[in-house]
Amino acid sequence: MVLTERVKVKALLESGQAGSLVVAMGWVRTRRGNKNVSFIALNDGSTINNIQVVADNANYPEELLKGITTGSCIGVKGLLVESPGSGQRVEIQAQELELFGTADPETYPLQKKGHSMEFLREIAHLRPRTNTFGAVLRIRHAMAFAIHKYFNDKGFTYLHTPIITASDAEGAGAMFRVTTLDVNNLPRTEEGKINWSEDFFGKEANLTVSGQLEGELGAMALSEIYTFGPTFRAENSNTPRHLAEFWMIEPEMAFYDIVANMDLAEDFLKYLIRYALENCKDDLEFLNKMYDNELLERLLFVVNNSFERLEYTKAVEILEKSGQKFEFPVFWGADLQSEHERYLVEKHFKKPVILTNYPKEIKAFYMKQNDDGKTVRAMDVLFPKIGEIIGGSQREEIYQKLINRINELGIPEKDVWWYLDTRKFGTAPHSGFGLGFERLLLFVTGMTNIRDVIPFPRTPNNCEF
Ligand code: 4AD
Ligand code: MG
Repeated sequence: MVLTERVKVKALLESGQAGSLVVAMGWVRTRRGNKNVSFIALNDGSTINNIQVVADNANYPEELLKGITTGSCIGVKGLLVESPGSGQRVEIQAQELELFGTADPETYPLQKKGHSMEFLREIAHLRPRTNTFGAVLRIRHAMAFAIHKYFNDKGFTYLHTPIITASDAEGAGAMFRVTTLDVNNLPRTEEGKINWSEDFFGKEANLTVSGQLEGELGAMALSEIYTFGPTFRAENSNTPRHLAEFWMIEPEMAFYDIVANMDLAEDFLKYLIRYALENCKDDLEFLNKMYDNELLERLLFVVNNSFERLEYTKAVEILEKSGQKFEFPVFWGADLQSEHERYLVEKHFKKPVILTNYPKEIKAFYMKQNDDGKTVRAMDVLFPKIGEIIGGSQREEIYQKLINRINELGIPEKDVWWYLDTRKFGTAPHSGFGLGFERLLLFVTGMTNIRDVIPFPRTPNNCEF
C-alpha cells in the first residue's frame, strides 16, 4: 500500500466521494462480524469518529485476519460507499488490507473499554488511543491554536521568555534547580557553602515559574506582547488543579490599566470557549455525553454572560456572612482558598467572578499599590468547578514605590536591577495576567483532574515516560 495515498478518516467521513477508491490507515478500535465478513472500526486520531471497514473474509489469509484485533494498526484500500448502517455517511469496502502492527489481545492494556482515569494515568504512553484522550488532546491543540490566533489578530507579539532563569523575584512557588555540578562532589567555598560560581551559569539557576518579569521588558518596547510556554513549580501540592510542569499564557500590555486588563481577560476567555464550541463540536459532544452532561450548557453560559466584578474586601464580607462552614477560615487579609472561590462563583453569583484590590501582603511585589496603603491592583478570575483560572494585575510603574516594596520584602536589588531599569527609563502604566492553560482545559473539557488534560503530567513522585 502506498503510504502517501492515505486520506485522513476525518476527511473521508466529512467529504469523501462515494464511489471513489481510497486508502485509510489507523488503529483498530473493534472488529466484529462472522465467518464470512468482518466489520472493522478504524480510527486515526483525526476525529473522534471511526470509519467502518467491511472486509470479505474469503479474500484474506487467515493469519492476517487473526492479527486484526483491538489496538492493531492496519492500512486499507477500498471503495468508499454510502453506508447502509446508521451512524455514518460512508464506509469502506476493503479490496486490500495490510497489517502494520499487531496488538496481542492477551497483553494490550486497552483491550477493553471503560478503564478508570487512574488506570489510564499509569499508561500515559497509550492513553491517547482512547476516545477520551483523543478528544482532550484535539481540544488542547485547538485551544493552543486559538490563543495564538487571538493575540495575532489583535497585533500582540509572541515573546519567548527564558525557561532557565536566575531570578526568583516572582515568589510564585518553590523552584526546580538547574545545575551541572556533580551532586556527589559539590565544590565548596572556604566557609563550607556550596560554591555556585563554579556552576554552569556562574550562579544559581532555576526553571522559571512565570515569564512575566521578562514579558514586561518586552511590553516596554513592543507595547503588547504575550508569552505561551511551560512553567515549573515545585510545590508539593497534590491537588486536582496543580501540576509541577504546566503551560501558561501571559499577555503584558503597556498603556492598560486594571479595567482594560479585566476587559481583555474576559474577552479572551470568551473567545477561546466560543472557538471550542464552534471548532471542537464532535469532541465536546462526546465529553458532554460520557462525563459531564452540563458541559455544553456551562460553556454557553460563560460565553453569553458578563463576569461579576468586585473587590476582595466585598468578597470577604459575602463569605463571612454566608453561614457556610469552610475548612479554612475567612477574614480580611486571608488568602482565598479554592473552597471560598468556588462558593462565590457557584453558590453566590452563579457566574464567573473577577476579584480585585487584594491585600498587598498576599500578593507579589510588583503589583500597583493603591492609595489606601493596604491593597494592590490585583485581579483573579474565578471560574465554576476550577476556582482561580487567571491571576494578574496592573503593575507598579513608579520607581520609588517599587523599590520601597522590594526593600520591605527583602528582595536583593542585585537580582532585579534589570527589572527596575524599566521604571528608570521610559516607564509606562502597564498591566498583564497569566492564564493557566491546563486550568482552561479543565473548564473546556469538563475533566475533573488536571492530570487528564496534559499528555504527560508531572506531579510529585510522577515523572515516568
Ligand atoms: O497566579 P499566578 O501564580 O500568577 C503568575 O504567575 C503571574 N506572574 C501571572 C501574570 O500576571 N503574568 O499563576 C497564573 C495562573 C493561575 O491563575 C493558574 O491558572 C495557573 O497559572 N497556575 C497553575 N496551573 C497548574 N498548576 C499549578 N501549579 C499552577 N499554578 C498556577
Ligand atoms: Mg494566583
